[in-house]
Amino acid sequence: MKKIIFATGNADKMKEIREILADLDAEVLSMKEAGIQSDIVEDGKTFEENAVIKATAISKLTKNGEIVLADDSGLEIDYLNKEPGVYSARYMGEHTDYHTKNGNLIQRLEGVPDEKRTARFVCAIAAVFPDGKVETVRGTMEGRIGYGEKGANGFGYDPIFFLPEYGCTSAELSMEEKNKISHRGKALQMIKEELR
Ligand code: IMP
Repeated sequence: MKKIIFATGNADKMKEIREILADLDAEVLSMKEAGIQSDIVEDGKTFEENAVIKATAISKLTKNGEIVLADDSGLEIDYLNKEPGVYSARYMGEHTDYHTKNGNLIQRLEGVPDEKRTARFVCAIAAVFPDGKVETVRGTMEGRIGYGEKGANGFGYDPIFFLPEYGCTSAELSMEEKNKISHRGKALQMIKEELR
């Protein structure tokens, strides 16, 4: 059976990844389960670069021919030249709470009309195969930045991410609903096809 290591320390991500990859004939391991520990500097300029940096670094630490997957994600706001982008987690400092980050972004969009508030969540996933081959995929979820925070589900920038087709923010969707349409859900489905 194929062994796949997903390079994340995030338990929620592992759960979602296991659910989506469940029908692959493969054992999916977290870094902890694979006995790998590593602090990787994500200094790439794109989501894809960061995902490849992480997956390649972990792949070098594997011993049993495992496939290594890693992701990188964030929010791009068109009016702000795609900020916060690859700096989404570090925007205003890594330890700043999201209520503050979200409030700041809303403020920066003050007076900007609906049609110019377009934004998207992006998720890139990289796969590094035992022979060194690298594949990347990208999933996106399009929306608009709202005028305040709404909803208590999700995390991060979800409360300000308005989905016009649904008439609510991604923080107002259940986890199952969000996973079906999310950037991460789509990227995971795409990488699953690469792994078949
Ligand atoms: P990472 O991919 O785990 O490094 O996360 C990047 C950052 O992007 C997160 O810390 C959030 O700030 C933001 N982000 C990524 N995906 C989402 C999402 O689905 N909802 C809200 N924020 C997100």
